[in-house]
Amino acid sequence: DDYQLGGFADYMRKEMHEQPEAVRRALMGRLDERFSTAHLGGISLDARELRSIRRVKFLGCGSAYYAGQLGANLVEEWARVPADAEPASEFRYRNPVVDPDTLYVAVSQSGETLDTLAAVQELKRKGGRVIGMVNVVGSAIARECGSGVFLHAGPEVSVASTKAVTNMSVCFAMLALLLGRVRDLSVANGRRAVDAMAVLPDRIAEVLASDEDVALAAAKFADARHMFFIGRVRGWPVAREGAQKLKEISYVHAEAYQASELKHGPLALIDATMPSVVIVPDDELVAKNVGTIEQIKARGGPVIAVTNADLPAGLADAVLRVPRSEPELDPILFAIPLQLFAYHVARTLGRDIDKPRNLAKSVTVE
Ligand code: G6P
Repeated sequence: DDYQLGGFADYMRKEMHEQPEAVRRALMGRLDERFSTAHLGGISLDARELRSIRRVKFLGCGSAYYAGQLGANLVEEWARVPADAEPASEFRYRNPVVDPDTLYVAVSQSGETLDTLAAVQELKRKGGRVIGMVNVVGSAIARECGSGVFLHAGPEVSVASTKAVTNMSVCFAMLALLLGRVRDLSVANGRRAVDAMAVLPDRIAEVLASDEDVALAAAKFADARHMFFIGRVRGWPVAREGAQKLKEISYVHAEAYQASELKHGPLALIDATMPSVVIVPDDELVAKNVGTIEQIKARGGPVIAVTNADLPAGLADAVLRVPRSEPELDPILFAIPLQLFAYHVARTLGRDIDKPRNLAKSVTVE
């Protein structure tokens, strides 16, 4: 095991640090600088078929579902095709209306999650068009889908998924780019996307280098019993995944909330014992998110800001810095400090990081 861990304290830490390499593998041979698009050879759909897709729906469980939400945003932004995500576990039981013009995307690290496999089988039975976004080659979901995109994250051991989730997001970005470029995404905007994706591994390495700052912030807030994770639009799936990670490995209760919905109820919970992790990308909504921090601070709530903006000094109690990218890709980078944050809270609390209680790496039974 020591050999496998290669000097890292645990698999989660090792796998977080493998992310630049993992993303490089996911991108390899798939970015097309000449035509500012992506090549996803495992999707056997020509341009005409890609254009006939009227809607995209991502299906997955746990972190794969939250990643799907991030993917749906990317598809809407770059391709302007309506897209959403749903837990595969719900989809399979609700007698879904299967639409032949929708592209269904089954998302799974292991490729063995029973709920996701059952959703794929239900889709196929109803004539739905489904592709897989799966890490493990030869897995049940990959075989059942027959076509799709492999994540190339490499083996993942830690129950809390890190590099596989990041690679899911990167593959969704390539799908969004491909769907965009057969529609109205211009060469110039496609080029911005390609260039930003190509440097994602370096940007991720920069976030990982901020590990000590994140560890300090985590130690400061590790005694909290509850935390909010607040984001809006692009930041919302990031907040959900950040809360999920914290719950999974630290057992601290975390709730993700949309920033604008705070005032419609949960603001009542804010006090000095309830820290909020607030996602603040430097995009067209930055002023709104600064306003959210001010609302929380006005009620005495501690704030940990995750940001690539220059926030007014003293606005937040801790700041987790993220490097700049194209705004559409911000969510991929913003997720990384939240992995580190959950990791360090769990470490501070002495949790068994790779094997959290009550959880399995993949759930292959009902
Ligand atoms: C389990 C794990 C989660 C994971 C989910 C989906 O519940 O504990 O961390 O996100 O399964 O797994 P998959 O292999 O389908 O991505």
